[in-house]
Amino acid sequence: MHRLTNRRILLGITGGIAAYKSAELTRQLKTAGADVRVVMTPAATEFITPLTLQALSGNPVHLQLLDSDAEAGMGHIELAKWADLILIAPASADFIARLAAGMGDDLLTTLCLASDAPICLAPAMNQAMWRDARTQQNLASLKQSIDIRVFGPGSGAQACGDTGMGRMLEPAELALLCAEQFETLALSGRTVFITAGPTREALDPVRYISNHSSGKMGYALAAAARDAGARVRLISGPVSLPVPERVECVHVESAEQMLAAALDGLETCDLFIAAAAVVDYRPVAVAEHKIKKGADEIMELRLTKTPDIVATVASSPQRPFTVGFAAETRDVLAYARDKLARKKLDLIVANDVSAAGIGFNSDDNAVTLIGADVSDTLPKTSKQQLARQLINRIAEHFHEQTDTSGQDS
Ligand code: PMT
Repeated sequence: MHRLTNRRILLGITGGIAAYKSAELTRQLKTAGADVRVVMTPAATEFITPLTLQALSGNPVHLQLLDSDAEAGMGHIELAKWADLILIAPASADFIARLAAGMGDDLLTTLCLASDAPICLAPAMNQAMWRDARTQQNLASLKQSIDIRVFGPGSGAQACGDTGMGRMLEPAELALLCAEQFETLALSGRTVFITAGPTREALDPVRYISNHSSGKMGYALAAAARDAGARVRLISGPVSLPVPERVECVHVESAEQMLAAALDGLETCDLFIAAAAVVDYRPVAVAEHKIKKGADEIMELRLTKTPDIVATVASSPQRPFTVGFAAETRDVLAYARDKLARKKLDLIVANDVSAAGIGFNSDDNAVTLIGADVSDTLPKTSKQQLARQLINRIAEHFHEQTDTSGQDS
């Protein structure tokens, strides 16, 4: 089921008594980490209310093809492109017939025509309708012409009193079959927290202490972790980058706020990566009003240490696998090893920020991944490419550790 993390499932519900099971199916898909959007045919709304599906999916339910509100927000073409997989459950004989005929006379058939996503059908109908040669012919022609998968139906007692083939599979079975349509990735089902960007430590209402971090490295890591199947929380200082799709982002300013966001829900986090350039010292006091220029040539600031976020995470009782970065301008590997030990990290990414064209605010980077028995040099490349390499290697070490400690499989 981990394979459903971050996946976008479009659940189509057509008219049939089994529609009541679609509520539980929605819940199970959501619990497995999928983002679910529901499309109902008019007949489906006679069996179960859109409000129920809206509450369970956490998204508005789509009902009509020609809906000016929807077209302004997520219209039928956007929905068709949005889906990673379309699951029609229950799929009535009528819907299967219209799909096989290539009709686009309602929202659901139109979406199926317009989408490149695989379509899965969970048929549910009376046993005689299922056995009918026309239903079987429609299914055979669909299988021949498009990427369609048919889940079930099962056999047993039917709502109409008959017994035989035509029962919709149970929600748990359907959710599992959906998950099996996706491959298992390096971080499938894992939750990853990533800090990124600089922090800002206020001096007065208009001034702050900060650094040149652009957030590019951390944001690239977030996208790479997402692509590796993880549920990602990006904890970002102020940067001007768009948040990667399917990544939850908590925007913060100061080190204190970054720490609070890191500790919030830490028990759900499997892997913590600290790529942020956290300001080490903040002013002891923040002036209430803008500090005025005085007559003195020199002004002294009293600073105090900010909390060490990654060290706090690594020492917490719910300690996730913890990876830090070390931005150094000299003796890079030695200082990085020192931080690895002092902050009690599992791995550290040594980053020589004195070299031209890499490090702070550049598009490229080059690093060395260091652990107790690891020293892995990753030469200069784009931050996106480097992030993918790092996530793959970090995932390998994470699995080695969790497998040997018997915590997980
Ligand atoms: O953002 P970009 O422009 O893309 O640049 C990327 C980067 C150079 C910022 C990034 O690759 C990097 O090296 N990040 C770490 C920057 C840093 O502040 O390193 P540090 O050696 O000072 O800190 C060591 C580790 O402790 C880091 O994981 C840091 O996030 C963490 N730390 C530091 C201080 C603090 N108060 N709390 C922390 O969690």
